[in-house]
Amino acid sequence: MRATTYEAKNILGFEVVPLDPKTALPAFNAGSHIELHLPGGLRRSYSLLNDPIENHRYCIGVNLDAHSRGGSRFMHEQLRTGAVITIGLPRNLFEMDESAPFNVFIAGGIGITPMLSMIARTQALATPWRLHYAARTREHAGFLDVLAAYQGQPGADVQLNFDQEPGGRMLDLNAVIAALPDGAHVYACGPTPLLQAYEKATASLPPERVHREYFAAKEAAATDGSYIVTLARSQRSLQIKPGQSLLDGLIAIGVEPTFSCQQGICGTCEVKVLEGTPDHRDMVLTEAEKAGNDRMMVCCSGAKSAGLVLDL
Ligand code: FES
Repeated sequence: MRATTYEAKNILGFEVVPLDPKTALPAFNAGSHIELHLPGGLRRSYSLLNDPIENHRYCIGVNLDAHSRGGSRFMHEQLRTGAVITIGLPRNLFEMDESAPFNVFIAGGIGITPMLSMIARTQALATPWRLHYAARTREHAGFLDVLAAYQGQPGADVQLNFDQEPGGRMLDLNAVIAALPDGAHVYACGPTPLLQAYEKATASLPPERVHREYFAAKEAAATDGSYIVTLARSQRSLQIKPGQSLLDGLIAIGVEPTFSCQQGICGTCEVKVLEGTPDHRDMVLTEAEKAGNDRMMVCCSGAKSAGLVLDL
């Protein structure tokens, strides 16, 4: 961890570099995230915010979550410059469509972080773009210096919205969507209420032009239980009991798929479904992927059918 920086109230920036400065880090593309391995077995995913052409560092921003389950609190209170930390390879569940004629970005709070790498890439592509960045107050808005450097550049338009400042109002998503240029793609990341409003506002747009990334669960995990899970590779089966998640059931019998967020937002725990109908509760799979019923996130999803056969 080469540097930690104060970015805004409750937001710290972290710059992660390889131990050997001559080593290039694995490449990433705009919208990617990395997983940090924290003490106590905690794993947390954070969006990369730096320019994807950089291969000497990964930069992330971390909001101190008032309901922290340990991750952001550790990052804010204990992780210090000079610490050695294990991270995973970059993954991308929030890919940009680089063929778009115009990009509109909507960021709420710490949801600005993936937008910063997307904006850098959009500038490199010379695609015009507009950012709507909503935060409670200017004091709560990180990375304003980065954004200020874009203002006035050809094709760039940064709109700030501070709803708790005098005269401030909530960002009007319907107006933002109504004003989309022809063929524009729109990307949103932020708190769940903002994304739910965004989903409503974009419901009539072609789905391929609408992109979003959640960073907190929208739905509760499926814990109704009472279904049988058969593990095809390990030739075992188990009954998931009421009150138990599928992941809990798997861990209880010693089968531990890789997992991280346990909220259906990071995609780490994806497992192939060979038979049965999952009760999808994640925010990773698209509606079309969910309808395919050939994969599921076992941390939060359950079963609509009496049984599931998984490739585990
Ligand atoms: Fe993150 Fe399941 S662990 S989606």
